[in-house]
Amino acid sequence: MVEILSTEPILIRFGVLSSKRRALSRTGLNNSNTSVCVPFYSRRSDAPAPTSHIMKSLLLIIFLLAVIPSVHAQQLGLITNTDGRKTISLDGQWQAIIDPYESGYYDYRYQPSTNGYFKDEKPKTKSDLIEYDFDKSPTLKVPGDWNTQSDQLLFYEGTVWYKKSFDYQRKPNTRLFVYFGAANYATDVYLNGEKLGQHEGGFTAFNFEITTLVRDTGNFLIVKVDNKRRRDAVPTLMTDWWNYGGITREVKLVETPATFVQDYSIQLQKGSRDRISGWVKLSGDKLNQQVTIRIPEAAISRSFTTDATGTAAINFTADLKLWSPENPKLYDVAIDTETDQVHDQIGFRSIETRGTDILLNGKPIFLRGICIHEEAPFRGGRAYSREDAQTLLRWAKELGVNFVRLAHYPHNEWMVREADKMGIMVWSEIPVYWTILWENPATLQNARNQVTEMIARDRNRASVIIWSMANETPLSDARLSFLRKLIEHARSLDAGRLLSAAMERHYTDDHTQMIDDPLGEYLDVLGCNEYVGWYDGLPDKADRLEWKTKYQKPVVMSEFGGDALYGHHGDALTRWTEEYQENLYRHQLDMLKRISFLRGTAPWILMDFRSPRRPLPYIQDFHNRKGLISDRGERKKAFYVMQQYYRELERLGK
Ligand code: GCU
Repeated sequence: MVEILSTEPILIRFGVLSSKRRALSRTGLNNSNTSVCVPFYSRRSDAPAPTSHIMKSLLLIIFLLAVIPSVHAQQLGLITNTDGRKTISLDGQWQAIIDPYESGYYDYRYQPSTNGYFKDEKPKTKSDLIEYDFDKSPTLKVPGDWNTQSDQLLFYEGTVWYKKSFDYQRKPNTRLFVYFGAANYATDVYLNGEKLGQHEGGFTAFNFEITTLVRDTGNFLIVKVDNKRRRDAVPTLMTDWWNYGGITREVKLVETPATFVQDYSIQLQKGSRDRISGWVKLSGDKLNQQVTIRIPEAAISRSFTTDATGTAAINFTADLKLWSPENPKLYDVAIDTETDQVHDQIGFRSIETRGTDILLNGKPIFLRGICIHEEAPFRGGRAYSREDAQTLLRWAKELGVNFVRLAHYPHNEWMVREADKMGIMVWSEIPVYWTILWENPATLQNARNQVTEMIARDRNRASVIIWSMANETPLSDARLSFLRKLIEHARSLDAGRLLSAAMERHYTDDHTQMIDDPLGEYLDVLGCNEYVGWYDGLPDKADRLEWKTKYQKPVVMSEFGGDALYGHHGDALTRWTEEYQENLYRHQLDMLKRISFLRGTAPWILMDFRSPRRPLPYIQDFHNRKGLISDRGERKKAFYVMQQYYRELERLGK
């Protein structure tokens, strides 16, 4: 959630607007002329006549004229497809100050300080007292979590201040934004001592306009990142993944024309395989323009006109090769306007359900999947690069997948861009995980914003077929109402994709598992997590289970599996051994094959990952060991059981 500074407190601070005037403005009385101020003013009999009153109004007008453009500009949504624009990377080593007590933000009375670290102050005289110095501080690599960059910070949850200095040659008719791929969790951003705004949520992108604040030389960008867990946050206090903190994805400057293509949606219309529908949204002051969509390879060039808000609705027929795992066709698409041009690589496919079937381009499919956490193979820590994405998706491909569940939060853009290229369908999820504070309006707003930002970044990715709203959330009316609002919101932003959630199931008797979570009513695809053979009995229990569902909808088994330490061997009933995991998978697959309405599987999980909830020495060592591959890339026996099953399905054309 991005929050932009409102102007009023500034006006009061500048003494331009009295709190009384503010009260008046609330009552709508301020549409009269400046006289309103007189009554306030008149109390002071000795005050000089109207000149100073005029001076104040003049100050107010000058100020508004100065501020409005920039404030207006900052209230911009996410800039989509930043790779298709002119950018300057700010990645690299950033100075960093570890600030567990947030003394760079609060004074000793725990009041926000106006003179915090964001000022980057330097002693001007030998007697000046400044108790921090970014330039003498150690550095942290950006992008990157701080936990795996220093042993001291492995368990650190708190605030870290980052500073990056840069020069930038300003250009006429050019706007400039600072773009963050993600920062976990609550982030405050300052440029040259001025607050740009803040963002909440560790896994979605955000940007701020800095056109009016940037200078040619000596810019200092200061970012406060706080990953402290909070009960009202999303996710909340308890997760089974490491709470990696920091500026975890790329940071860049994005340069655009004064009026530019800020966002667009160019996809096949729901249920159609030859009609493209969507929109293009401009930002700037020349909002009334002609927009042309070109797909040169298909000899397509169609023009549309924007409305007063700078939005052009687009709708046209097109005979295109459809994107699929077998043929992940991407087209070079150009969006031309009078003032801007953006290129993107877009695939076109239709995705829908019919009864218990999932249809890709009109044909029933089975989702041969695997769950993945955004953790880097070999080096550990948050994954963030194209190489990380390619390694993880290559391993998934080797397993035989055509689908990945990116758990439990939106992963970096490389994952979905590489999935587009590799022909891997994607389930993308927001971290409404376990027991969220359902009744808290701010928590709901936070979750909504994360849905908005997730969809804004990836709405043009053919690979993304499912948006997931939640994982293993306990049944209650408050939960249902919360999730229904999220679902409504997601549908209002993207009617073309399927909505799902990883739900719980329950026993109706010793041998029957029932999927009848009331949430299923509002979803297109029902995700279901089960750990028969690990948390629930021994592996052979699966042989005696029957599955039922209340819904005529496709079910994806969105999690199943068990832990094994690579290289740890024993008989099939000895926990933590590869043989136990292998045996568990054999029984699981036999059970899954018996479920008539099953349309996909995504075992938990591709690779072992760090978890603060797993301390068992010499086995877990703070890792969840349910990977089919170890965190050093070693395939466990169960990997080959799953691979064989997927190869069988592929042979059957599934
Ligand atoms: C849960 C949860 C995962 C967790 C897994 C496990 O179902 O969704 O985040 O890691 O189980 O216990 O291993």
